[in-house]
Amino acid sequence: MEESLQQKRLAFIGSGTMAEAMIQGILRCGVAAAENIWASGPRKERAAELTEKYGIHGTTDNREAARKADVVVLSVKPQRLRMVLHELRGTVRPEQLVMSIVAGAKISYIAQVLGTPSVIRVMPNTPAQIGEGISVWFATPQVTPEQREVGRRILTALGEEIEVDEERFLDMATAVSGTGPTYVFLIMEALVDAAVHLGFSRRIAEALVTKTVLGSVLFARQSNMHLAQLRNMVTSPGGTSAEAIYQLDKGSIRTVLSKAVWAAYQKSKLLGETLSQDDELDKRPNGSPPSEKLET
Ligand SMILES: NC(=O)c1ccc[n+]([C@@H]2O[C@H](COP(=O)([O-])OP(=O)(O)OC[C@H]3O[C@@H](n4cnc5c(N)ncnc54)[C@H](OP(=O)(O)O)[C@@H]3O)[C@@H](O)[C@H]2O)c1
Repeated sequence: MEESLQQKRLAFIGSGTMAEAMIQGILRCGVAAAENIWASGPRKERAAELTEKYGIHGTTDNREAARKADVVVLSVKPQRLRMVLHELRGTVRPEQLVMSIVAGAKISYIAQVLGTPSVIRVMPNTPAQIGEGISVWFATPQVTPEQREVGRRILTALGEEIEVDEERFLDMATAVSGTGPTYVFLIMEALVDAAVHLGFSRRIAEALVTKTVLGSVLFARQSNMHLAQLRNMVTSPGGTSAEAIYQLDKGSIRTVLSKAVWAAYQKSKLLGETLSQDDELDKRPNGSPPSEKLET
């Protein structure tokens, strides 16, 4: 498998942060050879930078990149997807595998515009940049076992991967793991500020918070205990943790987190609906212009 995958040609349409993270992981894990990877985007300088850095083929020609590939990875922002799909329509062949990491974009929409049935929709996250990401993915029934394995190997290069059997879990994953690092960074930032407020220097505050979060995560993983049990272990009666948790609960931290995740989930679903609707509108004689409200 390893050997045959090395010979697979991959094209990234959109060569930004996530594409680069994926390319780095793929090269680091030897999943594909640099000479078999294409990455396209609008800027020549970016194409040259990627060629220089990784020895891959950087290009500004989306069609050329897609034509060469066995796997076409769609890695543009949602607001660029519609344009890119229409550009690639007729270039992407039905036997090629399309892998989309675009937040919200539904498989039915991608498959319909491109006219290709083999599509994998993925929700990765940014720790993929250091091989510590988690990707949730769903494949259409037309994706062959070999393509499925290729997709899985690509995602393994980014960290862990979980295949789900219904596409609706992708919007949920977008809200939990895709957007998740943002919640963690915000909470860490708030804790650092709180430590500075107590009187620590920012350097020490950052070290304390970062190691506490990292250590807690590793401890939770290795101990295999329920999170509530781990928390109870350090919550002595009338102690400091009990006092702090009382304030967190009083501030509705659980509700706020739940509302945040729910809002991100709704936004992901809306992105998908907006993309599909824009295309439907364009089919009408006096179709409205595409929506601009597509920021993730
Ligand atoms: N970042 C995350 O945390 C994360 C997590 C999960 C999924 N995603 C998804 O990953 C996708 C990419 O996100 P990102 O963070 O990598 O964004 P990004 O850094 O902005 O990358 C997008 C790239 O697409 C290029 N591009 C713009 N128009 C194009 C076109 N017409 N044809 C080809 N390329 C074009 C951009 O070039 P210019 O810079 O020159 O405009 C940019 O290099 C998004 O759909 C997002 O939903 C992101």
